[in-house]
Amino acid sequence: MEDTSDGFQVVRHKRRKKKAPATDFVKSKPSLNNVSDTYDTVVSIEIFKRRIRDYELEIENSEFFEHFKTCWYSVIQHLAVIKDVISDRSNLLSSSSIEISTPTNMNSNDNCQHDVYDIVCYGLGNFTLCPIARYQFAFLHLMTKFLQIPGQCFVYDPKFTEEEKIILKDLDFHVIDKNEECKRPINRSTVFHMPHCGKPMYNNLLWSNWSYNALQYLILIGNSFNSLKLRFPSRILQNEVPYIHRILPYTQEIEIDNNFQHSDIFNDTSLHYFPADKISKIVATEFWQECNEPLYKSCDSLEITQAKFNV
Ligand SMILES: C[S@@+](CC[C@H](N)C(=O)[O-])C[C@H]1O[C@@H](n2cnc3c(N)ncnc32)[C@H](O)[C@@H]1O
Repeated sequence: MEDTSDGFQVVRHKRRKKKAPATDFVKSKPSLNNVSDTYDTVVSIEIFKRRIRDYELEIENSEFFEHFKTCWYSVIQHLAVIKDVISDRSNLLSSSSIEISTPTNMNSNDNCQHDVYDIVCYGLGNFTLCPIARYQFAFLHLMTKFLQIPGQCFVYDPKFTEEEKIILKDLDFHVIDKNEECKRPINRSTVFHMPHCGKPMYNNLLWSNWSYNALQYLILIGNSFNSLKLRFPSRILQNEVPYIHRILPYTQEIEIDNNFQHSDIFNDTSLHYFPADKISKIVATEFWQECNEPLYKSCDSLEITQAKFNV
């Protein structure tokens, strides 16, 4: 039995030729028996849920979360502007015969009723093994409740183990089944939670939503773009992560105070969004049209796992 530093236990049994020992979780999830040639890994989901609930309470009652909620209000205002624009469009549409384009699959009512539709989380890490990832997971779970999203919470990390995927599904997360390299295009308000992720991951996300319509719906919780600007020379950002570099002047960033009792969970984390009044100032058509898909050298593999290198 391995105690992973804060009481959460991963129970490992040597594979037996005969029937595996009965546990409440294995009985209902027989697929766990295929996890490894050498071991059966048995995780008690009930223990995990209780542990996560404790973490959630700790976050929920913290000054950090109070501050996060304060920061969130400015996102709500930003989303309200989008709602107004959509409803103005709808009114205009109903009062005239002019055709106004709404993003594909977008039902304008969706956004009029809800502030945020979906959450996507990339790069959480191994939350059954790492306390940092576990707190970030608890924050994500708390956020799904706080935001009351009508859509889904999608998650992906190439490092997720089979038992982590089972836990995620049990808690109603939608586990993405392939490495989309953080290139998920959106057409309705979506929060991306990408804690402590590599620069190419943010760069890919921006590239896949490189238009006025898509960017206005994108809210990113991740490493501070402002601190990237301070830490890296402009030339490096321009060459290596050009979409971050290009969107910097049009980004609204709200730094979330790192006042949580553990300082290495939410450090360097900001809310980022792209207000219509800023991105509408981009008049040069080539700004949007010059959008080649990003390519990374193999040395960047430390910052992103690319689909072709997935193991
Ligand atoms: C620096 S770690 C951060 C882990 C954790 N969030 C933390 O703060 O300790 C970056 C994470 O991004 C994940 N990652 C790398 N490529 C990815 C991809 N293409 N899609 C989603 N996650 C990816 C890695 O597996 C790793 O868990």
